[in-house]
Amino acid sequence: MIVLKSPAEVEKLRRANVIVVEVLKVLEEYVKPGIATIELESRCEEELRRKKARPAFKSYKDYPFCLCTSINEEVVHGMPSKRKLGEGDILSIDLGVYLNGFYGDAAVTLPVGEITEEAKRLVRVTSTALDRAVEAAREGNRLMDISAAIQQCAESEGFSVVRDFVGHGIGRELHEAPQVPNFGIPGRGVRLKEGMVLAIEPMINAGASAVRVLDDGWTAVTADGKLSAHFEHSVAITKKGPLVLSNL
Ligand code: MF3
Ligand code: CO
Repeated sequence: MIVLKSPAEVEKLRRANVIVVEVLKVLEEYVKPGIATIELESRCEEELRRKKARPAFKSYKDYPFCLCTSINEEVVHGMPSKRKLGEGDILSIDLGVYLNGFYGDAAVTLPVGEITEEAKRLVRVTSTALDRAVEAAREGNRLMDISAAIQQCAESEGFSVVRDFVGHGIGRELHEAPQVPNFGIPGRGVRLKEGMVLAIEPMINAGASAVRVLDDGWTAVTADGKLSAHFEHSVAITKKGPLVLSNL
């Protein structure tokens, strides 16, 4: 069942999401060669404490951190560690927070120092795929119009979309219906309606779409070891069109 949100509830979701993006902005400043991802986690904890918001991922299905930090061939759910970022890496930072009964969820992929042209193109295309998906998140459209927009962006550039992880509805729960796949046939799926709030999260691979999960039980990596990028916004469908909640 898809839970529709009132304008007042959308506003609460926006507040949670603003915290997510404010913290992501702070963390961006620290993303440089030589920093360990666990240091980003510590900075994040401090910021959340200051803002009186709760981390959403920590303790979710026993996940032990506030952040997911996924480097290079890591697709999603990479865990902060003592591993230091190196020049040329790409880093996805994914953060969820809980504030006043509602969740916020967003992610960005950032370059570490100077990255290759191919890595730049992957990051750019994934970000553009999210923009196109947001554009499709409007009343009258169908859910798969969002999915198809992402797939089209990725595949027209010779990249592939991850099929084993999906976006999701978001609200009083971190993961609500509907699932939002990153591939699909336009015109299919539920009709989009005012009050739906979706976390749209393209995960795009430079090589093939297959992923596997490491023995840590969390880290998803590309099966072929090639790069993967990930962006995420929480988006409300309104009469006036898509409203990106995870924007400053
Ligand atoms: N943004 C991802 C999601 O919404 C991150 C979840 S990490 C987890 O699914 F630890 F909470 F699972
Ligand atoms: Co999400």
